[in-house]
Amino acid sequence: MSQDHESLENLLQEDRFFLPSPEFAAQANAQPDEYAHANMDRLAFWEEQASALTWEKKWDAVLEWQAPYAQWFIGGKLNASVNALDRHVAEGRGSRVAFHFEGEPGDTQTITYAQLLTEVKKTANALIEIGIKAGDRVAIYMPMIPEAAIAMLACARIGAPHSVVFGGFSADALLSRIQDADAKLVITSDGGFRKGTAFALKPAVDEALKGQHNVEKVLVVARTKQDVAWTDRDIWWHEIVARQSAEHIAESFDAEHPLFILYTSGTTAKPKGIFHTTGGYLTQVAYTHKVVFDLKPETDVYWCTADVGWITGHSYVVYGPLINGATQVMYEGTPDTPHKGRIFEIVAKYGVTILYTAPTLIRTWMKWGDEFPLAHNLESLRLLGTVGEPINPEAWMWYREIIGGNRCPIVDTWWQTETGAIMISPLPGITATKPGSAMRPIPGISAKVVDDNATPVADGHGGYLILDQPWPAMLRGVWGEDERYKETYWSRFNGIYFAGDGAKLDNEGAIWLLGRVDDVMNVSGHRISTTEVESALVSHEAVAEAAVVGAADAMTGQGIVAFVILRSGIAHASGDELNTQLRNHVAKEIGAIAKPRQILIVNELPKTRSGKIMRRLLRDVAEDRVVGDATTLADPNIMKKIAEGLKTAKDED
Ligand code: PRX
Repeated sequence: MSQDHESLENLLQEDRFFLPSPEFAAQANAQPDEYAHANMDRLAFWEEQASALTWEKKWDAVLEWQAPYAQWFIGGKLNASVNALDRHVAEGRGSRVAFHFEGEPGDTQTITYAQLLTEVKKTANALIEIGIKAGDRVAIYMPMIPEAAIAMLACARIGAPHSVVFGGFSADALLSRIQDADAKLVITSDGGFRKGTAFALKPAVDEALKGQHNVEKVLVVARTKQDVAWTDRDIWWHEIVARQSAEHIAESFDAEHPLFILYTSGTTAKPKGIFHTTGGYLTQVAYTHKVVFDLKPETDVYWCTADVGWITGHSYVVYGPLINGATQVMYEGTPDTPHKGRIFEIVAKYGVTILYTAPTLIRTWMKWGDEFPLAHNLESLRLLGTVGEPINPEAWMWYREIIGGNRCPIVDTWWQTETGAIMISPLPGITATKPGSAMRPIPGISAKVVDDNATPVADGHGGYLILDQPWPAMLRGVWGEDERYKETYWSRFNGIYFAGDGAKLDNEGAIWLLGRVDDVMNVSGHRISTTEVESALVSHEAVAEAAVVGAADAMTGQGIVAFVILRSGIAHASGDELNTQLRNHVAKEIGAIAKPRQILIVNELPKTRSGKIMRRLLRDVAEDRVVGDATTLADPNIMKKIAEGLKTAKDED
């Protein structure tokens, strides 16, 4: 991992730190004895957190661990939707607002817990009428509208695992996920509003369903009211849901009943269906949401800007906050529509107190200028969070000063689709924070930084981030691919979960995340594998071979740079036109988020004598660095040629 050693050594010597204010500390949900309490008896600690949920039947045993297979709260029975909704209504909190929904065009909806429960019950009844039973998989492909959360909760209510596919993914990407999970139903909408216009979603579903699948019905929300093609398979959401009974008695499911599948990129072209179960997942998302965000459900207005298409939207928009009875903001659109102050305007409008977002958006705000946040009253904010990628100290400080008015603690939360819930983060009333560090594992979690032999490194050193104890919200597997589960996560260090991230411990033992050490890129907080983009490029008729790297990008964290060898003997477009064609082709195969920032046509790629592409060298080129040690290359001159080609391409820009 020479590349990573380099970045370890380059890590900024950051010595600023911020203690929680005495006022914040005094009122915080997590008090200083929280860590010691968890350390005393980890399993008893998690049992205590599980007890905060409503169980129809209590578990018989807390954990069964046969690495790499965990079962938590064995024998317990509960219903996710009852925990998120029914119990609030039953305990007199039905009139509390669950969501302040803000559509991009400015339409709004205020949805109380009682209303949300009614909608979820009616939707659950609609799913039953359609023929969905416990265990059936349902694909959800929707914009960020209340029906997305309602659909997820309705599936959970009847025990049908949902597989949410981000609305920005293409028809091809949707089809492969429908096939892999063997979904029986797709829930979608005609479209949504983004960047000032209505975009369409239903045509992508129609296109996807031209392939092989076992989808019987498509349930369609009318969000934009645009014209849509219609088949016998399609059902309007408003028609079927409206006629349902508002009564639905939820059945409880086993703690280990699958709650959802969520696809994420790995190091191969095929995304992995990460699957999560019910009891442990809900326990950890609820606990972390309470202590990391310090939620006071009676007074806070919480806003997590993530889309439900990602794990953050699952854990910290739908399940965690609703279980805790939070009042949330949900926003459909983009941060710059109709103006660059939109997010701040919404914070001021609803008096948002807790804001959870991604470093890429924070850096974008910095670029746009301080005048946008400063034009709005952000004094309601009392806590800020970040997630998805390492946050650079400058962005962290800007977030603290300009958005947080120097008074809000910042929680930099490290976790993954696989971990299901936050694993490493400051606790805002206890932990001193350092700009750019996620600090330490939360109570009840064991994370370490180790060397190649799985030996923990000393303070001041770097290595690989591992999780050496099972945790309640951990993934239970890769859907239908058990070998891949074992191979990907548990084989690098035998029986220990390897997260795929490099990390460093500073001299005080605080954890600094350094990004992925595998072939996974992180673009604006979204995971995309180099191989996935390579195979999309190679599926274009003009491309013979492709190598893709994630290059440092000031705005998006990493940007996708592709090196492409063209096929000879076939007529293809050239120059800009080819470039556009290839970028669009990747968007068609995967989605617009995977479009390369730059495509370089080269004659050869740097390979070792055994034929392995040396991405490290391509990254040097893409990041404008002196090319590192190239002595293992079959042809050492290649890098010079590629670098020269890049220089010419830049001169032409
Ligand atoms: O590399 C880490 C980075 O995002 C990866 C997980 O991506 P995903 O499963 O899409 O989940 C993102 C939202 C939880 C991790 O392996 N990552 C996530 N949070 C942080 C981070 N890197 C540094 N700091 C973080 N706070």
